[in-house]
Amino acid sequence: MQDPSPRKRPIVEVRGLRKEYPLGDETVVALKHIDLSIMRGEICCIFGTSGSGKSTLLNQLAGMEKPTRGEVRIGGALISRMSEEQLAAFRQRHLGFVFQSYNLLPSLTAAENVAMPLLFRGVPPAQRDAAARAMLKRVGLGHRMDHYPAQMSGGQQQRAGIARAFLARPDVVFADEPTGNLDSRTTVEVMEMICGFARDFHQTIILVTHDPEMARYADRIVTLIDGQIVREDVKQRSVQ
Ligand SMILES: Nc1ncnc2c1ncn2[C@@H]1O[C@H](COP(=O)(O)OP(=O)(O)O)[C@@H](O)[C@H]1O
Ligand SMILES: [Mg+2]
Repeated sequence: MQDPSPRKRPIVEVRGLRKEYPLGDETVVALKHIDLSIMRGEICCIFGTSGSGKSTLLNQLAGMEKPTRGEVRIGGALISRMSEEQLAAFRQRHLGFVFQSYNLLPSLTAAENVAMPLLFRGVPPAQRDAAARAMLKRVGLGHRMDHYPAQMSGGQQQRAGIARAFLARPDVVFADEPTGNLDSRTTVEVMEMICGFARDFHQTIILVTHDPEMARYADRIVTLIDGQIVREDVKQRSVQ
């Protein structure tokens, strides 16, 4: 049998994932038993109503929390067994994040914020700055590079957040409700930007949303109800 094409190889593999949270004397089962494979270059949407377990799943996939049971692999690395230090290093080297609340550092300019992932990777300052500025131009913020987050609109801050997430070309970009604080027009702009980057750079993105409008951008839609996958839809991309 021939090797599958690169975009058909899984980058994220989840087996028997369960997550419980203690809550007083009780236990909340946020994820019951999740098996999931996400292919390289895919835009995967984790979809469901509030409380269905989307953020919990994202947090286990990105190594932000430890599963109660089961395994999570990213690019073959068993992240569910890594120590906190190994995880922190793995996240900096391999993962990117877009946050609902943008999470730009208020004391840094847009260019300085965007350059952060390269700082962690030991890239020299002039090179970091040039890369961050090129990326900011690309997201239409050429006129805001030396502005501070407080001087930028929500949409502009989120575009800077996207530039930061993709700058170092991480293996996977995670986004939990990235347009949750934006109006509908800005939501479309931001989603097109995220998906444009994912496609141009052939980058895997895992996106959490409760909004069916956003799920249409995905190649793979994973629907959660009560901590369980109830449906998985995979779209074939006509243009690559
Ligand atoms: N840290 C926590 N402690 C206790 N329960 C939690 C915690 N995080 C999430 N939960 C519970 O797990 C379930 C799934 O939550 P979550 O993953 O945040 O859902 P979603 O992102 O789909 O809205 C909910 O019942 C929520 O109350
Ligand atoms: Mg959530």
